[in-house]
Amino acid sequence: MASPTAAAFAAQTNDLDAFWLPFTPNRAFKRAPKVIARAKDMHYFTPDGRAVIDGLAGLWCVNTGHNREPIVAAIARQAAELDYAAAFHFAHPKSFELASRVAALAPADLNRVFFCNSGSEAVDTALKIALAYHNVRGEGTRTRLIGRERGYHGVGFGGISVGGIVNNRKYFGSLLTGVDHLPATYNREQQAFTKGEPAWGGHLADELERIVTLHGASTIAAVIVEPMAGSTGVLPPPKGYLERLRAICDKHGILLIFDEVITGFGRLGCAFAAERYGVTPDLLCFAKGVTSGAVPMGGVIARGSVYDAFMHGPEHAVELFHGYTYSAHPLACAAGLAALDLYRDENLFDRAKRLESRFADAAMTLKGLPGVLDIRTVGISAGIDLASKPDAVGERGYAAMERAFHDEDMVIRVTGDTLAIAPPLIVSEAQIGEIFEKTARVIRAVA
Ligand SMILES: Cc1ncc(COP(=O)(O)O)c(C=O)c1O
Repeated sequence: MASPTAAAFAAQTNDLDAFWLPFTPNRAFKRAPKVIARAKDMHYFTPDGRAVIDGLAGLWCVNTGHNREPIVAAIARQAAELDYAAAFHFAHPKSFELASRVAALAPADLNRVFFCNSGSEAVDTALKIALAYHNVRGEGTRTRLIGRERGYHGVGFGGISVGGIVNNRKYFGSLLTGVDHLPATYNREQQAFTKGEPAWGGHLADELERIVTLHGASTIAAVIVEPMAGSTGVLPPPKGYLERLRAICDKHGILLIFDEVITGFGRLGCAFAAERYGVTPDLLCFAKGVTSGAVPMGGVIARGSVYDAFMHGPEHAVELFHGYTYSAHPLACAAGLAALDLYRDENLFDRAKRLESRFADAAMTLKGLPGVLDIRTVGISAGIDLASKPDAVGERGYAAMERAFHDEDMVIRVTGDTLAIAPPLIVSEAQIGEIFEKTARVIRAVA
């Protein structure tokens, strides 16, 4: 493999030892580091100047493309004007402006925005709002939270408790109590090589009725799902599934939470997946694309009725005992406003919708390559399952990511032996072709 040596990078960065990388095999990384020094639009550049095409929009977040001038300028202006203002009991103008703009993108009466700094915090915030909502309305017995197998909701204790990824859970003790899980919506036999939402699987939402019967509706606070599960390999919702979840939640007074940390801000060709699917949750988590990844930010959009439930008691008293020092940080708000301008001015959500079938067709050209077991697509995202090596699950996927970077000058994501491709929404048709041609070579090389 034509990889720069660890020694060469060590010389540039002084020492690779101190940094404990997140969600990364540290020893393997430090033997063959993948270091990115700068970026522009669709490309990263390595310290030695190699252009690397970004097939993953950063980590599903850089939807406008990298280092866009209006975002860079907005952050610089904001840093000079107001670095920080106390987030509790005080606010700065751009926090209101961004909240209004985000709420205007959300459907129906999702119109109150609570800011935090990441997807994980957004999930914990939504779970806490759901529990407190029932509590302040006199339904304090509703404490159970329902997630889903193969769900990813970040790494906070709330998120890993409702999440359904074994490795993210099994090392970390007993997690939250009173959590149950819906079954995953993926079934390869029924759904393999589907573009968009599979026809099979809507009935799996009815499992919620079984869980309600088991525990009693009066004990259940909320159900949380990703409308499209991204991190476990791009699993679009089966047709009718989200509608059925909504109906069952309504019937039993359970709040429905959509975790739109990946699906928000254009990934599925709409501002939010809630719009694509015509289903309005009670709470919607967002992060990533809100600033196009330029400054950490997350948040929860709540229905007006959820917010109103808290607005009681003495006026001087805090209504929700929750928040972060950096909620609605000025730099994040400035970056968010500039990113929303770019989404609007360049019609990037529509662009994603227009490119969807071209993207799906390109992804499906990988069908028939050695070891390709399934390909799923929705919006500007694709998941490709590769056959695992016997007794070495994840090795082939890892080799594919390494090869993509070192030999094909491309960043893709892997989870186990599943590849994920989700470039910035500015990707050109030619670049879509390039990304899947490179992926084909990678797949052949690791077969
Ligand atoms: C659906 C979903 N929720 C939550 C998160 C966690 O976000 P963060 O890494 O910003 O905490 C992610 C991250 O990929 C995600 O995909």
